[in-house]
Amino acid sequence: MNRFSFVFWLRSAALLLPMLAPFAQAQTVDAEAAEHLARKSHCTKCHAPARERTGPSLKTIAEKYRGRDDAVAVLVKHITTGPRIMIDDEEETHKTVRSEDEAQILNLVRFILSH
Ligand code: HEC
Repeated sequence: MNRFSFVFWLRSAALLLPMLAPFAQAQTVDAEAAEHLARKSHCTKCHAPARERTGPSLKTIAEKYRGRDDAVAVLVKHITTGPRIMIDDEEETHKTVRSEDEAQILNLVRFILSH
Protein backbone atom coordinates (compact mmCIF):
# COMPACT_ATOMS: atom_id res chain seq x y z
CA MET A 1 0.00 0.00 0.00
CA ASN A 2 1.53 3.35 -0.96
CA ARG A 3 1.41 6.41 1.24
CA PHE A 4 -1.48 8.01 -0.58
CA SER A 5 -3.75 4.99 -0.46
CA PHE A 6 -2.92 4.43 3.21
CA VAL A 7 -3.98 8.00 4.08
CA PHE A 8 -7.07 7.54 1.94
CA TRP A 9 -7.88 4.28 3.72
CA LEU A 10 -7.45 5.95 7.12
CA ARG A 11 -9.75 8.82 6.13
CA SER A 12 -12.43 6.47 4.84
CA ALA A 13 -12.23 4.35 7.96
CA ALA A 14 -12.49 7.43 10.16
CA LEU A 15 -15.55 8.55 8.22
CA LEU A 16 -17.21 5.18 8.01
CA LEU A 17 -16.78 3.84 11.54
CA PRO A 18 -19.10 6.33 13.30
CA MET A 19 -21.68 5.70 10.58
CA LEU A 20 -21.53 1.93 11.07
CA ALA A 21 -21.55 1.93 14.88
CA PRO A 22 -25.33 2.21 15.30
CA PHE A 23 -25.83 -0.83 13.06
CA ALA A 24 -23.33 -2.90 15.04
CA GLN A 25 -25.20 -2.13 18.27
CA ALA A 26 -28.71 -2.50 16.92
CA GLN A 27 -28.80 -6.28 17.14
CA THR A 28 -32.48 -6.58 17.82
CA VAL A 29 -33.71 -10.10 18.35
CA ASP A 30 -36.83 -11.45 16.68
CA ALA A 31 -37.95 -13.67 19.57
CA GLU A 32 -40.91 -15.11 17.69
CA ALA A 33 -38.74 -16.25 14.76
CA ALA A 34 -36.14 -17.68 17.16
CA GLU A 35 -38.76 -19.65 19.12
CA HIS A 36 -40.27 -20.93 15.90
CA LEU A 37 -36.89 -22.17 14.64
CA ALA A 38 -36.11 -23.73 18.05
CA ARG A 39 -39.40 -25.63 18.02
CA LYS A 40 -38.98 -26.70 14.40
CA SER A 41 -35.47 -27.98 15.21
CA HIS A 42 -36.68 -29.82 18.36
CA CYS A 43 -34.35 -27.77 20.59
CA THR A 44 -37.23 -27.21 23.01
CA LYS A 45 -37.27 -30.94 23.77
CA CYS A 46 -34.10 -30.43 25.82
CA HIS A 47 -33.85 -26.68 26.43
CA ALA A 48 -36.31 -24.43 28.29
CA PRO A 49 -35.89 -20.69 28.92
CA ALA A 50 -35.30 -20.85 32.67
CA ARG A 51 -35.60 -24.52 33.74
CA GLU A 52 -32.92 -27.19 33.42
CA ARG A 53 -34.09 -30.13 31.32
CA THR A 54 -31.87 -32.66 29.53
CA GLY A 55 -29.91 -29.65 28.33
CA PRO A 56 -29.03 -26.47 30.22
CA SER A 57 -31.64 -23.68 30.31
CA LEU A 58 -31.20 -20.72 27.97
CA LYS A 59 -30.52 -18.64 31.09
CA THR A 60 -27.68 -20.96 32.16
CA ILE A 61 -26.17 -20.82 28.66
CA ALA A 62 -26.45 -17.00 28.51
CA GLU A 63 -24.80 -16.70 31.93
CA LYS A 64 -21.96 -19.02 30.93
CA TYR A 65 -21.16 -16.84 27.89
CA ARG A 66 -21.86 -13.40 29.40
CA GLY A 67 -19.09 -10.94 28.48
CA ARG A 68 -17.34 -13.31 26.08
CA ASP A 69 -16.49 -11.79 22.70
CA ASP A 70 -16.53 -15.22 21.06
CA ALA A 71 -19.98 -16.18 22.41
CA VAL A 72 -21.84 -15.84 19.11
CA ALA A 73 -19.15 -17.68 17.13
CA VAL A 74 -18.89 -20.55 19.63
CA LEU A 75 -22.66 -21.04 19.82
CA VAL A 76 -23.19 -20.83 16.05
CA LYS A 77 -20.56 -23.56 15.74
CA HIS A 78 -22.22 -25.59 18.50
CA ILE A 79 -25.63 -25.61 16.83
CA THR A 80 -24.47 -26.05 13.23
CA THR A 81 -21.72 -28.67 13.43
CA GLY A 82 -23.25 -31.35 15.67
CA PRO A 83 -20.53 -31.71 18.33
CA ARG A 84 -20.36 -34.86 20.46
CA ILE A 85 -21.93 -34.31 23.89
CA MET A 86 -22.64 -36.51 26.91
CA ILE A 87 -26.27 -37.17 27.91
CA ASP A 88 -26.80 -39.55 30.85
CA ASP A 89 -23.32 -41.07 30.42
CA GLU A 90 -24.02 -41.72 26.74
CA GLU A 91 -22.14 -39.95 23.98
CA GLU A 92 -24.50 -38.37 21.46
CA THR A 93 -24.29 -35.99 18.53
CA HIS A 94 -25.86 -32.67 19.52
CA LYS A 95 -28.78 -31.70 17.33
CA THR A 96 -28.14 -29.22 14.51
CA VAL A 97 -30.44 -26.34 13.76
CA ARG A 98 -32.87 -26.86 10.87
CA SER A 99 -31.97 -23.79 8.83
CA GLU A 100 -29.31 -22.87 6.31
CA ASP A 101 -30.13 -19.18 6.68
CA GLU A 102 -27.26 -17.41 8.44
CA ALA A 103 -29.47 -14.53 9.61
CA GLN A 104 -31.97 -16.96 11.17
CA ILE A 105 -29.20 -18.91 12.91
CA LEU A 106 -27.62 -15.69 14.24
CA ASN A 107 -31.02 -14.55 15.43
CA LEU A 108 -31.51 -17.80 17.37
CA VAL A 109 -28.05 -17.51 18.97
CA ARG A 110 -28.66 -13.87 19.98
CA PHE A 111 -32.06 -14.91 21.35
CA ILE A 112 -30.40 -17.58 23.52
CA LEU A 113 -27.75 -15.09 24.72
CA SER A 114 -30.45 -12.50 25.56
CA HIS A 115 -31.73 -14.63 28.50
C1 HEC B 1 -31.36 -34.39 23.17
C2 HEC B 1 -31.31 -33.16 23.92
C3 HEC B 1 -30.88 -31.89 23.23
C4 HEC B 1 -31.44 -31.31 22.09
C5 HEC B 1 -32.59 -31.83 21.25
C6 HEC B 1 -30.72 -30.07 21.89
N1 HEC B 1 -29.78 -29.90 22.86
FE1 HEC B 1 -28.57 -28.27 23.08
N2 HEC B 1 -27.62 -29.22 24.60
C7 HEC B 1 -27.98 -30.43 25.16
C8 HEC B 1 -27.04 -30.76 26.23
C9 HEC B 1 -27.07 -32.02 27.10
C10 HEC B 1 -26.12 -29.68 26.28
C11 HEC B 1 -24.90 -29.55 27.22
C12 HEC B 1 -23.71 -30.13 26.48
C13 HEC B 1 -22.43 -29.90 27.17
O1 HEC B 1 -22.28 -28.88 27.84
O2 HEC B 1 -21.56 -30.75 26.99
C14 HEC B 1 -26.53 -28.73 25.26
C15 HEC B 1 -25.89 -27.53 25.04
C16 HEC B 1 -26.36 -26.54 24.21
C17 HEC B 1 -25.81 -25.21 24.11
C18 HEC B 1 -24.63 -24.66 24.93
C19 HEC B 1 -23.32 -25.07 24.36
C20 HEC B 1 -22.19 -24.58 25.21
O3 HEC B 1 -21.13 -24.36 24.63
O4 HEC B 1 -22.34 -24.39 26.42
C21 HEC B 1 -26.55 -24.55 23.18
C22 HEC B 1 -26.37 -23.11 22.70
C23 HEC B 1 -27.54 -25.46 22.71
N3 HEC B 1 -27.41 -26.66 23.33
C24 HEC B 1 -28.49 -25.14 21.75
C25 HEC B 1 -29.35 -26.05 21.18
C26 HEC B 1 -30.17 -25.79 20.02
C27 HEC B 1 -30.24 -24.46 19.29
C28 HEC B 1 -30.85 -26.94 19.76
C29 HEC B 1 -31.77 -27.22 18.59
C30 HEC B 1 -31.15 -27.14 17.28
C31 HEC B 1 -30.47 -27.90 20.76
N4 HEC B 1 -29.55 -27.34 21.60
C32 HEC B 1 -30.99 -29.19 20.86
C33 HEC B 1 -29.04 -31.21 24.79
C34 HEC B 1 -29.84 -30.99 23.68
